[in-house]
Formats: sequence, structure tokens, C-alpha cells
Amino acid sequence: MIDNQTQLLGLIGHPIIQSKSTIMHNKALDDLCLNYRYFAFDVDSSNLEKAIAGIRALNFKGANITIPHKTNVMRYLDEISDEALAIGAVNTIINQNGRLIGYNTDGVGYLRSLLEETGVAFVDKRVLILGTGGAARAISYTIAANEVEEVIIAGRTIQKSSELIDSLAIKQVAKAIAYDQLEDYLKDVDIIINTTSVGMYPNDNQSLINPEWIESKHLVSDIIYNPLETKLLKDARAKGAKIHSGLGMFIYQGAIAFEKWTESLPDIEVMRKTVIEALNDKERKEENKC
Ligand code: ATR
Repeated sequence: MIDNQTQLLGLIGHPIIQSKSTIMHNKALDDLCLNYRYFAFDVDSSNLEKAIAGIRALNFKGANITIPHKTNVMRYLDEISDEALAIGAVNTIINQNGRLIGYNTDGVGYLRSLLEETGVAFVDKRVLILGTGGAARAISYTIAANEVEEVIIAGRTIQKSSELIDSLAIKQVAKAIAYDQLEDYLKDVDIIINTTSVGMYPNDNQSLINPEWIESKHLVSDIIYNPLETKLLKDARAKGAKIHSGLGMFIYQGAIAFEKWTESLPDIEVMRKTVIEALNDKERKEENKC
């Protein structure tokens, strides 16, 4: 029930129609009987400043920020965590008595998801990251801070990969390569992480990795969660490798934000079940079954 005491939370992005954050957070809030509501707002870049002012004016407790505003939003906040500053992106805002503080929960969310779902930690591992975008920045920064042995960043060009490494100041553990060098480097890595959109719905049949290069010793992780099992993960499964899907990162980045806003721990399984149901529901609707 919504009443005058209800605390407001929101998602700001463009577009937001595909997002499962609203249903996931509201279900987790209801599960703990917390008097909060989470709404999604489709805000284009020209209205971002006003939308952030609206969070203050309407006394929202907090918000998530998604594509394409994660970097531009930083200029409108009062304070930014060291981690979000280094990553160069904010995905979570907390309103502390009118002061808006920005955080980035993507990297830590990814780390927690991998540990909880596979039992694998990054300590002493050699990791290969595909992609040089926002998610690659959050994940590389976080794992570089977690005693990883080496992080190899693969991009369209070595220059793109090097730029990411230089801007995150992770040179001491990181190496830059281009996609056309993947075959040589995959032999020596333990964990492969796809942070690109290659393989995402509706281009489900694409992958940057030749299946022949995958070995059973690899842990293969994909941050895509639609489809839940990408071509890369299917190929890895067929090779006997351990696999990790992107659903966990989405859930844990949300759970960490939820904890910051409400000071309560959400039920991860309630969140997971809700998102899976919402994804299945979407598939059914697309097939015109309801
Ligand atoms: P996110 O915030 O989810 O990381 P992003 O910042 O747009 O999104 O990054 C997407 C990544 O996927 C980028 O590294 C992008 O490469 P470019 O920046 O060089 O375009 C990568 N990517 C997207 N489509 C790709 C494709 N077809 N082949 C290879 N890389 C691709």
C-alpha cells in the first residue's frame, strides 16, 4: 500500500522499458514489508539535470542510474564514492538529507555474484575481459583491487584496451590486447568474462570466442542475462567448462543498492525468482501465448 509515509526510489535511464529493476525491487521491498516504492523514469539526456533536481525536491530516498546517464549524472551530485570516481560511472544514488551521494555497485555486484554462484574468487587468478565499455571498467577496477594475478583486457584495438588500463591506473596487473590476439592468450587464463553486448538478444547466435579455444579448465562468465545462457556459455558448457551467467551481476548490483537505501538485506532468491519470471513472461508475450 502507498501512503504519505511511503519512501520513494527510482530508476532513471533511456530507454527503460526493458528494465527488470522495478519489479525486482518492489517484490524485495514487499517481501520485507518495507514501506518504499520503486518507479522507473524514462529521461532523455536534455532532462537529466532536472530529473536529478527532482530527486532532491521530491525527497526520493535514492535512485538507480542506467544507460546512457551513468557518467553524465556525476556532475549533478554532491559527493561521489572513491570507487565510482575511479570507475567513472555512478549507478546508485543515496539521498542523505538533501545531499546526493553517488556509488557504483556494478563491480562489487559482479564479484559477489561470481563468488556466491561458483565459489570462485579472483585471488591469484589470470582473467581475460572481453570489452572496454562501462561494465568492463567496473569489473576490471574491482577485480584489480582483489589480488588478481593478471587481468588481460581485450578490445577492438590495443589502443582501446590500453586507454581503459591507463585511466583506471591498473597497469601493475593489467595487459592490453586486441580481439585478434585472443587465441594466443586464452591458453593461459583461468577466467573469461564477456562484458560486450555480443550474444545479447536478439543476436543470440553470436560470440567473440571460437568454441575451439575454450577448455574445461576455464570458468566462462557472461554479463548478459537475456538470454540467460548466451552462445558463449552454451559453447563453454559443451566443452565441460564451468559457466556463470549475467543474471547474478544484475541481482547483486541491485541488492547492494537496496541495502544502501533501506539498511535491510533483501532476499536474493526472491529477487532472482522475480527476474526469471519476468524474463519468461516477456518470452511468452513475444510468442503471443498471452
Ligand atoms: P556497458 O556499459 O554495458 O559496458 P558499453 O559501455 O556500451 O556498455 O560497452 C559495450 C562494449 O561492448 C564495448 O566495449 C563495445 O566495444 P566498442 O566500444 O569498441 O564499440 C563492445 N561491443 C559492442 N558490440 C560489439 C561487437 N559487435 N564486437 C565487439 N565488441 C562490441
